[in-house]
Amino acid sequence: TPWRATVLTLFPEMFPGPLGVSLAGRALASGLWALEVCDIRDSATDKHRSVDDTPAGGGPGMVLRADVLAAAIDAADAGETRPRLVMSPRGRPLTQAKVAELAAGPGPLIVCGRFEGIDQRVIDARGLEEVSIGDYVLSGGEIAALALLDACVRLLPGVMGKQGSALEESFSDGLLEYPQYTRPQLFEDRPIPEILTSGDHAKVAAWRRAEAEKLTRARRPDLFATRPQPNRQKPPKST
Ligand code: ADE
Repeated sequence: TPWRATVLTLFPEMFPGPLGVSLAGRALASGLWALEVCDIRDSATDKHRSVDDTPAGGGPGMVLRADVLAAAIDAADAGETRPRLVMSPRGRPLTQAKVAELAAGPGPLIVCGRFEGIDQRVIDARGLEEVSIGDYVLSGGEIAALALLDACVRLLPGVMGKQGSALEESFSDGLLEYPQYTRPQLFEDRPIPEILTSGDHAKVAAWRRAEAEKLTRARRPDLFATRPQPNRQKPPKST
């Protein structure tokens, strides 16, 4: 049984979307992972199939009903134990470590928020973990769910070819990626840095490390400060 993601959404036509092409799409077609898309509206009970209502206490917009969403979760996830996420700008920021953890598990159930929000009681009662993909506001959780799933799927066994595990560097060594070049040797008066064509692999590695550190320090001082340090030998304990 392959890694399986279940997405609960009011816009099922947004899936698989970009996950149906390229790396993720080929992996989906070949059965390396599965995507189950559930329309939350199918769990509405009244004749108008309504899924939202006005916020208690007043205010703008509409709130996704707890009873409808709970029924959708229960129908999709009867007695299963797997991560239950809800995409929201209020959530804990998504990290590569979290992506790796999700990719190593059975695959998450993901609720895509819409409207001004979701009734808090269904978040609490169904143990939904709120996850954000960044400090900006999308019009719904679908694009956030697609981003999270793309990041997970590329880590699944067999999805990436050669450039897989070994090149899983950028965030796992805590630095941004060094710059890359390819032919032509000269582009608009700009040559490829000489070291890269020298054939000296040790010098190339040292140059790339230095470039990655320079870029990370300038662009992401937060990452630079907390990057994993290369192992230093502990001095022997004196008695
Ligand atoms: N829904 C709307 N904005 C979002 C964000 N930044 N992350 C996750 N889900 C969202």
